[in-house]
Amino acid sequence: MLGAIGATPIVRLERIAEPGAGEVWAKLESFNPTGSYKDRMALAMIEVAERDGRLRPGQTVVEYTGGSTGSSLAYVCALKGYPLHIVTSDAFALEKRRTIEAFGAQIDVIPSPEGITPDLLPRMMARAWEVVAETDGFATDQFNNPDVTDGYAQLGQEILEQLDGRVDAFCTYIGTAGCFLGVTRRLRADLPEVVRVGIEPAESAVLSGGDAGTHRIEGGGVGFWPPLLQPSDLDEVHAVSTADAFAMARRAAAVEGLWSGPSTGANLTVALSLAHRLGSGARVVTTLVDSGMKYLAGELYASG
Ligand SMILES: Cc1ncc(COP(=O)(O)O)c(C=O)c1O
Repeated sequence: MLGAIGATPIVRLERIAEPGAGEVWAKLESFNPTGSYKDRMALAMIEVAERDGRLRPGQTVVEYTGGSTGSSLAYVCALKGYPLHIVTSDAFALEKRRTIEAFGAQIDVIPSPEGITPDLLPRMMARAWEVVAETDGFATDQFNNPDVTDGYAQLGQEILEQLDGRVDAFCTYIGTAGCFLGVTRRLRADLPEVVRVGIEPAESAVLSGGDAGTHRIEGGGVGFWPPLLQPSDLDEVHAVSTADAFAMARRAAAVEGLWSGPSTGANLTVALSLAHRLGSGARVVTTLVDSGMKYLAGELYASG
């Protein structure tokens, strides 16, 4: 079951793309076992810690998460026999909480009904450190854990193999920056000119030098600069509003059959604008972060 992580398909957008613009390719990370690219980093965080002895057999694993990392860790920990304690919030999709519980993990929910506010992640982190102390647990601490990039180097490798080594730009939404860093470092090793574009919510455009704010693009826009990321890792940063990200996620599902969530909506918005700017012959790659299945109970796909 752990071997089912990765080796996802990649597809070219054919209907949304503008005539005369560059190609846009989306790596379908929804094909991972829990429906998200986070399976790759959860496996890397656990296996690197196992190898270097930081994680002991039977030790409780503890993480603060919007729910996708939690779902992936719950899957990996269930298979490897580690108890898991997750700190999350009701600002994130209910489906993610239920997935974590389905794989047998314990869960604490921090209330934040108004959405992803700047103080939410610090509150979740503080509770996670209390749980680490209470359980003598192992903190995967995704925002400060350099092992997250290990899992995404393979994603970059797959892109290179699937596209015969030809990529002009890569863009993706930034939370921990694990995916962005793991993929762009692998791409740059072969393609030093590849343009690396980070994406964030317009309402909380901290990477662009703006103020932290409240938004509904789950998985990023946490209100502070992610510690793993250096300004020199980014060639460009693009900000997308919650409304535009939602609209693009809906349009991509209806027009291309690409069924995803808000962060993928942001990814596709930026990928299409880069393809427009770079023009015919250019090749832009992004990720379909996760499946629309994770957002069915929320407002994204609610009709009427
Ligand atoms: C739905 C979603 N999109 C995007 C991201 C951003 O990924 P990363 O943490 O690798 O920057 C995350 C991470 O939490 C996520 O859950």
